[in-house]
Amino acid sequence: MNLPLLVDCDTGIDDAIALTYLATHPGTEIVGIVSTGGNVPASAVHRNNLALGELLEIQAPIALGAAQPLVEPPMYADDTHGPGGLGHAVLPAITRTEDPRSGAQLWVDAARAHPGELVGLVLGPHTNLALALQIDPELPRLLKRLHIMGGAIHHRGNTGPTSEWNIAVDPEAAQQVLAAFTGAAQRPVLGSLEATETVRFTQGTLDRFTALAAATGHPVASILADALRFYFEFHEADGFGWMAHVHDPLVAAHAVTGDFAGTRPLAVDVELTGTLTRGQTVGDELGRWGRAPNVEVLTDVRAEEFTRHLLETLEVGLFPSAHG
Ligand code: RIB
Ligand code: CA
Repeated sequence: MNLPLLVDCDTGIDDAIALTYLATHPGTEIVGIVSTGGNVPASAVHRNNLALGELLEIQAPIALGAAQPLVEPPMYADDTHGPGGLGHAVLPAITRTEDPRSGAQLWVDAARAHPGELVGLVLGPHTNLALALQIDPELPRLLKRLHIMGGAIHHRGNTGPTSEWNIAVDPEAAQQVLAAFTGAAQRPVLGSLEATETVRFTQGTLDRFTALAAATGHPVASILADALRFYFEFHEADGFGWMAHVHDPLVAAHAVTGDFAGTRPLAVDVELTGTLTRGQTVGDELGRWGRAPNVEVLTDVRAEEFTRHLLETLEVGLFPSAHG
């Protein structure tokens, strides 16, 4: 049985790469996709996920999540991901229909359908997983494992000075998820910025995506290349130079393979009331809180190996022969 995955994402450029990786990896089966507002509004995320789902022939249900965070007013990252969420990519007309359930309900139903087996990935804000926990508090015991892209422990933020985007968009939801999964059989794996920013896509990486589109003729390969070019333009405009930090695919590859990074246990919580630090993920290295570790933080990322693995998986998975 391939590894059953529930992917909750705010597609987004790096989400799209992660989703394509998860869909084309030979050892996985995506059993559900939840469209969470974040990089762009939930409706735009949903359109992106439906389009990718159709073009990648993902049979799993794709459900729309909540229109806004639990408490925080919505904020979006048009500058980073483009107004549609996929940079310069132009999506074809799609016929793929959405699942009528809410994103939260899909979380619950997928976990119940695969008790003890389902691996959940949260690659955007935690809004819909928090809502799913309100429907079924047993979720942490139903999931095999949870993998999160989010937070910045001993690293500057990318949204506020100390906050990372996925947590900053919905801090209450992130705090509720970490609290609910405290004591789970397998601690959630947290891919925070200090891990994901070790992955630096260069012009050479961008060239490989462009070459992939030309070699395969696969529409998703073209979408990813056009989206990634926008991401480079954003990073250059943001002072990082001509490169791209691509966060979600590393978390996805580690979730599937257990490779390309180590982990270490840590007690982590989310600041909700800080005037300057709301949305910060705080790690208690010295045990001052007296709490047991509640997450496994990604460490020792082997970024070059991961990038090679990512491109190799996409190059095999997107070739027409891979689809029979
Ligand atoms: O901070 C990076 C995260 O925020 C990534 O998941 C990116 O897609 C955005 O959602
Ligand atoms: Ca994301």
